[in-house]
Amino acid sequence: MLRKLVFLGMGGTIAGASESATDNVGYKAGQVGVAQLLVAIPALRGALGDHEPVSEQVAQLDSKDLGHNHWRDLAQRTHHYLSVADVTAVVITHGTDTLEETAFFLSCVLPEELLRSKPVVLTCAMRPASSSAPDGPQNVLDAVATALNSASQGVVVVCAGTVHSARDVQKAHPYRVNALDSGDSGPLGFVEEGAVRWVHQCTGAIADARAFPLEKLSFVPWPWVEILVSHAGVTGTALRALCALPKGATPLLAGIVVAGTGNGTIHQDLEAALREAQKQGVRVVRSTRCCQGRVVAGSTEFEFAHSNGLSPVKARIALMLELMR
Ligand code: SIN
Repeated sequence: MLRKLVFLGMGGTIAGASESATDNVGYKAGQVGVAQLLVAIPALRGALGDHEPVSEQVAQLDSKDLGHNHWRDLAQRTHHYLSVADVTAVVITHGTDTLEETAFFLSCVLPEELLRSKPVVLTCAMRPASSSAPDGPQNVLDAVATALNSASQGVVVVCAGTVHSARDVQKAHPYRVNALDSGDSGPLGFVEEGAVRWVHQCTGAIADARAFPLEKLSFVPWPWVEILVSHAGVTGTALRALCALPKGATPLLAGIVVAGTGNGTIHQDLEAALREAQKQGVRVVRSTRCCQGRVVAGSTEFEFAHSNGLSPVKARIALMLELMR
């Protein structure tokens, strides 16, 4: 019996189209359906081996416009397919701009016992499908090789022949086809001529993520968590204004992730406002705006919780899920 490999489409540049085949910048993301993308990759048949492709369009957008409902829908559809006995893995085509957030979110909410035996592989492209030299088709083939590799587990990201973990991957370049990076941790592996060469064990688990009951996404409101950046000249004015918003006008501010300078330091004026916010019950998490490494704790306790090495955008997701729990 043929097993199934599921492809879920979310849009992005991989599904983008521009008027000219030489224009890799002035295109519109999220134009080509996932089924059409697959048909345009002749080598896919061979890469799938004894697997039959199944595709579904979950969303069709530029990933900068993703909302929490898109995440909920994607998590639910992914969970649905992972729970089907003859499905081996799920591949998701997605825009690069917020891919690291979606990958991290999925790794926090999908049940670990399913992810241990059935990987979820996100892939993307930096050039639109209409390009005369698109990178999407090779990325899809590499994602298929990763999804069908017996050592794959958890949520991983494949781009430009490189396999990244959901925890460490970050978009690091606005133009290069090799736009993603795993920082200090380095990639999990490389895809070479259809074979994965692992350089780190693919554990799949997010060590510091606590199990999240997926069904809660349907009825628990998403808390309002903002990211603020500490920088020269910043004040506490914006944060105080957010905290002073009248009840009922918007959901109450529930949390702040502060992208601190260097080792998570914060301008004294913003720090004072954060202290006041925390006293009012707003949860504050400290991360760093540095794109590599993590905040290193010293001998004195930090006044604000730290992000456990998560980047500001991922720390925001972790805090939202924590508050929703
Ligand atoms: C997007 O994130 O949807 C657009 C940019 C990209 O995919 O590279």
